[in-house]
Amino acid sequence: MVVAVAESVPVRSMVTTTRAGKAVARRFVAGDTLAEAVTAGFVLNRQGMKVSLDLLGEEVHSSAEVETALEEYVDCLDQIAANAIDGNISIKLTQLGLAFDPGLAWNALDRLAEKASAHKLTVTIDMEDSTYTQATVDIYAAAQERHGNLGLALQAYLRRTPDDLERLMPLGGHIRLCKGAYVEPDTEAFTSKSDVDAAFARLLHQLMANEAVMPAIATHDPKLIALTRQLGRSRANPYEFQMLYGVRPQAQRELAAAGLPIRIYVPHGSRWYPYLVRRLGERPGNLWFFMRALIGK
Ligand code: FDA
Repeated sequence: MVVAVAESVPVRSMVTTTRAGKAVARRFVAGDTLAEAVTAGFVLNRQGMKVSLDLLGEEVHSSAEVETALEEYVDCLDQIAANAIDGNISIKLTQLGLAFDPGLAWNALDRLAEKASAHKLTVTIDMEDSTYTQATVDIYAAAQERHGNLGLALQAYLRRTPDDLERLMPLGGHIRLCKGAYVEPDTEAFTSKSDVDAAFARLLHQLMANEAVMPAIATHDPKLIALTRQLGRSRANPYEFQMLYGVRPQAQRELAAAGLPIRIYVPHGSRWYPYLVRRLGERPGNLWFFMRALIGK
């Protein structure tokens, strides 16, 4: 429902063109520019957290847009290295052309992985809606075999994820386990919260028991965080928590203060609307915050 309303043209234009709309976005987005993302990275690093810098944008449909995103990501890697930020980048393959030319997306990812490797950095591939899952898994597997410095997000709500995880864990790299943020049909995904949470817990056991891969546990859910901490105690190799910029910041600081490894996903850029809609959809309380900000209360 939230997504349907948000996708209507008048709502989109009200949010993206008003000061109040932009103010709401700033809770979840570090800023329009890379410099603002780097500043957020500094602040979070000082608080004991790593970062993953994300340039917002998805579903591009021209090679010119891909070229722009690629250059901005190259810049991002250079700035992370130049400023000694403890971080990496997160990318979306549709931002690199997957929706219209998978070969272009592969070439762009190849270039980014090579650039990251030159700086001794890593690249995480976000997972998008289920029409892209197979292509994303295949491209990730090939790129990880070639470069060895990549990671991939897998979504617990997808029925196929246990098989994808089995296939991908032997490749090493890092696997970011998240619940999943897109609206999916129930042929593809569990749709009730309890089923998704149970699927997440099963995958968490599967992932944390494998020492070949680096588990990145991306959730703000206190029960799943507690289960991760418990499973982490019997792990020989590292793992990390991941959370989103602006979501449960106090919990983020508490994990860092307890000496647990945590990375914050820091989005930046002017194309923030689809990202904001996913964040609003995750929590009813966000909608009240959003409505209050829009009417200036
Ligand atoms: P859940 O939604 O059950 O939330 C648990 C609690 O956390 C809530 O009760 C609330 O307190 C708090 N909370 C969660 N979301 C909130 C919000 N937006 N605002 C305020 N409070 C909130 N998805 C995807 O499909 N592909 C991807 O590549 C990624 N990548 C990714 C990276 C990282 C680092 C994270 C943390 C998440 C993602 N996601 C994602 C999003 C993920 O799939 C999921 O939609 C959200 O993390 C919300 O799920 P939780 O696990 O936090 O649980």
